[in-house]
Amino acid sequence: MREHVNKISIIGAGAVGATIAYAAMIRGVAQQYVLYDINRAKVDAEVLDLNHGLQFMPMATLHGSDDISACEGSDVVVITAGAKQQPGQTRMELAGANVAMCRSLVPSLMKVAPDALLLVVTNPVDVITYVVQQLSGLPSRRVFGSGTVLDSSRLRFLVARHLNVAVQNVHAFVAGEHGDSEIPLWSAATVGGLPLLGWSVPGRASLTEEDRARIFDDVRNAAYHIIRGKGATNYAIGMATARILEAVLNDEQRVLPVSSRMEGYLGIQDVCMSVPSIVNRGGVEAVLEQPVNEAEREGLRRSADTIRQTIRTLGF
Ligand code: LAC
Repeated sequence: MREHVNKISIIGAGAVGATIAYAAMIRGVAQQYVLYDINRAKVDAEVLDLNHGLQFMPMATLHGSDDISACEGSDVVVITAGAKQQPGQTRMELAGANVAMCRSLVPSLMKVAPDALLLVVTNPVDVITYVVQQLSGLPSRRVFGSGTVLDSSRLRFLVARHLNVAVQNVHAFVAGEHGDSEIPLWSAATVGGLPLLGWSVPGRASLTEEDRARIFDDVRNAAYHIIRGKGATNYAIGMATARILEAVLNDEQRVLPVSSRMEGYLGIQDVCMSVPSIVNRGGVEAVLEQPVNEAEREGLRRSADTIRQTIRTLGF
């Protein structure tokens, strides 16, 4: 019997969409890729540039199109299209324009790829994930967002650098909004099984409350800093999204802080936000209800309220 050919379609050939394609192709995540954009010249150029490197990647095919029907038969559709943050602009300020984009995109996408999982990257990702789920009518587990996978990676990098340990051995999550109201879950964070709170290892830096506050400030403001310098972020979000796609297509049961519809965690409902969850071929299998302390609990509830307020102002 012929083995299933995994197909990923990426909506939006901007810096983020093209980098997701690049990262996924290098990691050999799927066998078929489609890059879609309304700007035909842009999508053709990105596809040509990527295909010129095909010799150096695991076997795959990549096609570009400005016709949404090219997404037909996708296993996963990644949504990256829409307005991007300008220097100093918050992600929430993009909500109106990007929800309007979804109102036209989602119905046409459902016609050609009704069986696909929808992975949202477009910001504000928690709001857009909720809106796409509503517009698509798909079960909530099949519509999820990149959420704070990127923020958690930033947190791990900064903690690893501060403590001089391998980033792969830092287990720490950022939860809530992928944005200004996000919350670092310090109380559950560990390095090599040692809790980060109370960290004390001879020959290694300590991790004081001031250190944690500075590190988290750098996490929360990372995108603003990078956008000021180069106009957009793309590499880390591209790699984070490729990692999520890998967890889905390989049915890994991988724990990732993706943005999904809350069904009562901490009494939170009617909103999408990031909590560490089990991700597999069916999408978001289960939210792992983190044992948070009081400050983290209040912070997550405030974050949910922030996201829900924007969702409501947009009529959802
Ligand atoms: C960032 C974008 C992806 O945080 O929101 O870099």
